[in-house]
Amino acid sequence: MITGKYPNLRLRRSRKNSWSRRLLAENNLSASDFILPIFLMEGKNKIQPIKSMPNVNRYSINKLGIILDRAIKSKIPMVALFPYTSTKLKDSLGSEALNENNLVCRAIRYIKERYKDKIGIMCDVALDPYTVHGHDGILRSGYVLNDETIEILINQSLLQAQMGCDVLAPSDMMDGRIGRIRKALDKENLKNVQLLSYAVKYASNFYGPFRDAVGSKIALKGDKKTYQMDFRNIDEAIREVALDVKEGADMVMVKPGLPYIDIIKSIKSKFKVPVFAYQVSGEYSMLSNAINKKIIGKEAIYENLMSFKRAGANAIISYYADRLNEILP
Ligand code: PBG
Repeated sequence: MITGKYPNLRLRRSRKNSWSRRLLAENNLSASDFILPIFLMEGKNKIQPIKSMPNVNRYSINKLGIILDRAIKSKIPMVALFPYTSTKLKDSLGSEALNENNLVCRAIRYIKERYKDKIGIMCDVALDPYTVHGHDGILRSGYVLNDETIEILINQSLLQAQMGCDVLAPSDMMDGRIGRIRKALDKENLKNVQLLSYAVKYASNFYGPFRDAVGSKIALKGDKKTYQMDFRNIDEAIREVALDVKEGADMVMVKPGLPYIDIIKSIKSKFKVPVFAYQVSGEYSMLSNAINKKIIGKEAIYENLMSFKRAGANAIISYYADRLNEILP
């Protein structure tokens, strides 16, 4: 594989000038590679900073224009909506998930009315923003029930799709839900709704700030290790993806991002399907805090995002996606 020998070959020759480095760059990032998560909140004229996530806000629906206009102007293809649900709307079954006037449903309608198909909308399918215990499904004796949870997730999926959601992203990790959701969508003639499966979602310590942002942190009792994946495993990730692709997923997600780029790479090379990476809230906050404290420079963001691309990710969900003009060279 070695194509030459010093002194005939000097790899530094092509690094000498910026134009040459640009010309020979093996990977590039642009706005089209990004999905921007947006946190929703009730009320009017509200833009509320999230303490554990520097420069990330929650928006009331009537203020969504501010962030959507920015996303569309910078050519971000899709946003992901996450609701902050007030405690009084939560119950043990996550019933609010099936309310057609819940925050997510109203936001989808608002965006589709005003922006049509100028930007894609992705929504999580999972019950954790809506349950009193903060788990993604129905809890019995401390265990999240699989099949019973799927029945609710199907209805949540159909509702979000009927409201106009373009991409459903089941993030719950129940076995078999992709197949059941796909079948239900087909039956309701919602054949073009895409499924982005959080196929490989690890029980991670990096989700803390997100749970704070959607208000499920205080609610959550225990951890999610009986349904999210064990971070010691690779083969299991491959099996999860194989199942979800067979069941009808259009794209698969690996989550968190940076600690799992090895997983992104193996999945991409084995399956040749679209693989998305989620740079999760904990990764975002660690990096942002280090930059704010001047421990590292802000160029580290670009370097971090590039690692996903190098590993083979087709798109990156990132809380930095609304500031790409300051981040990409
Ligand atoms: C909920 C969900 C979580 C994230 C996205 N969807 C948290 C969790 O599973 O507890 C995490 C995203 C982030 O940390 O940025 N199913």
